[in-house]
Amino acid sequence: MITKLTILLGSPRKSSNSSFLAKKLGEIVDKKGIEVETFLLHEMDIHMCIGCEVCQGEKNTGCILRDQMQEIYPSLQSADAILLAFPIYYCSINAQMKVVIERFYPFGTKGLSGKKLGVVVAHAESGAAHAIHIIKDICDYCNMAYVGNVEAEMQDGGEAEKQWMKLKKDVEKLADELLK
Ligand SMILES: Cc1cc2nc3c(=O)[nH]c(=O)nc-3n(C[C@H](O)[C@H](O)[C@H](O)COP(=O)(O)O)c2cc1C
Repeated sequence: MITKLTILLGSPRKSSNSSFLAKKLGEIVDKKGIEVETFLLHEMDIHMCIGCEVCQGEKNTGCILRDQMQEIYPSLQSADAILLAFPIYYCSINAQMKVVIERFYPFGTKGLSGKKLGVVVAHAESGAAHAIHIIKDICDYCNMAYVGNVEAEMQDGGEAEKQWMKLKKDVEKLADELLK
């Protein structure tokens, strides 16, 4: 059984489909007495990786950028499961989430090793398979265990809430995989 789940919400919109489903999953995990920490990336001051490679040096200084990613690093470190929830923009992972993933660089191939990773992806029609493929490659690089995903195929905000009864089983299944 895991002890902590960190949820990263990548959607910028208030009535977000991906965030709604990720929060529902968080509630399921929380009810099991597991710590859940959630970050709404759009409201955080998180800069893009500048490729300085300082974090790859022998001194183990971590990332030199002093922004709110410094709040996310310890959460990811102490979690044994991570949930990435994001919409598809232009056939790929949306920018808010991609910026944060690129800031995983200080962890290298070992820092996140052994942690479980799940995905909630919302999309209107295309791009989810491509994004999931990318996330699986990232898991391989970071030695994380990809445990599954929930795909919500919908355009309008609030749609996931309306279709909750239909999506509930998928969310519960992903929660089970993360909890194991
Ligand atoms: C800028 C932008 C680009 C988008 N590009 C795609 C796309 O390439 N493929 C797709 O299926 N949906 C695309 N969509 C639709 C969203 O993925 C869809 O509305 C999704 O439900 C949004 O999830 P959210 O409510 O969690 O933000 C795009 C939406 C926006 C605003």
